[in-house]
Amino acid sequence: TRHTRLLGVGSYLPEKILTNDDLAKMVDTSDEWIVQRTGIKSRRIADPDQRTSDLAFEAAKAALANAGVDAESIDLIVLATATPDYTFPATATQVQQKLGIRHGYAFDLQAVCSGFVYAIANADSQLKAGLAKRALVIGAETFSRIIDWEDRTTCVLFADGAGAVVLDAVDGPMSSDGPGIIASSLRSDGNHREKLYVDGGPSTNQMAGHLRMQGKEVFKHAVGMITDVIVDVFEQTGFDGDSIDWFVPHQANKRIIDASANKLKIDPAKVVTTVDHHGNTSAASIPLALSEAVDDGRIKTGDVVLLEAMGGGFTWGACLLRM
Ligand code: ACO
Repeated sequence: TRHTRLLGVGSYLPEKILTNDDLAKMVDTSDEWIVQRTGIKSRRIADPDQRTSDLAFEAAKAALANAGVDAESIDLIVLATATPDYTFPATATQVQQKLGIRHGYAFDLQAVCSGFVYAIANADSQLKAGLAKRALVIGAETFSRIIDWEDRTTCVLFADGAGAVVLDAVDGPMSSDGPGIIASSLRSDGNHREKLYVDGGPSTNQMAGHLRMQGKEVFKHAVGMITDVIVDVFEQTGFDGDSIDWFVPHQANKRIIDASANKLKIDPAKVVTTVDHHGNTSAASIPLALSEAVDDGRIKTGDVVLLEAMGGGFTWGACLLRM
């Protein structure tokens, strides 16, 4: 038997800051409306010459440095993104190339905002199965490229960024109070496509397309779906809202985060929130938030951390780990 443990975490944010006041000059909106409905105050936007693989590469280097391991030791890269550099090859292979890695394997995983939770769960399974020994799990997005910048109902929400973790396969079972991925739960239901989708794709209209969303409909389903998979993880493990140390949710909207934490009886002091200055960076939001809370000393070795996300598809999932 094997288990997997998290060796390091890192992130990257583009330099350009777009504030709500900046957006109010582009569309009919206001700082007050955006803050009240979403909790977002500012977000980062990639330079025109920065691609998803560039953001991912920076986050990967930071995670490797934090873990204290060489790129050479990585034999699996799972990159969660809905905004790849190209239709193919996978952006993960471009990160592999930038890191100078020529062994092992790399691929992209597409579950939109749930991408990072899906990627952690999948890398965990592949490491346990013996397909690889050490993985880079990355969430990286350039959502600014698929936003309709004239649509005020969506352009105020999304943003760019990248985060990454290094996962290591360890021989033997995980000890009851040792580090490692404890449990995951993943779900999807394609019946919800029209509520959140991109109106372009190679097989549909040969275009990249723009994000379209029925915000109220997404909101209506979000809290129930999020709490369902978390309850599943709690039932698998015996943990509950009280016994976890940190809740690092996907950063879509402060109201969704607060309502989910409240329903699960998670103390607000345990909730890591970055949506105010990151916006919704889709698959990048969880590793970006995790990285921030590790860097500022909140999340420490031995802490039990609950990750959760919900996004287009719909897809949703949760993952519990000990640092
Ligand atoms: N500025 C000012 N007014 C706006 C804006 C804006 N940026 N956007 C919409 N409005 C207007 C609408 O046109 C509407 O006007 P009307 O009443 O004259 O028709 C009014 O504000 C209310 O719009 P609603 O859509 O009802 O506003 P709501 O309270 O539902 O908030 C929001 C919208 C923030 C999108 C909310 O529904 C939401 O957060 N939904 C979840 C969406 C989400 O987080 N998606 C992320 C992807 S999935 C995931 O990551 C979980």
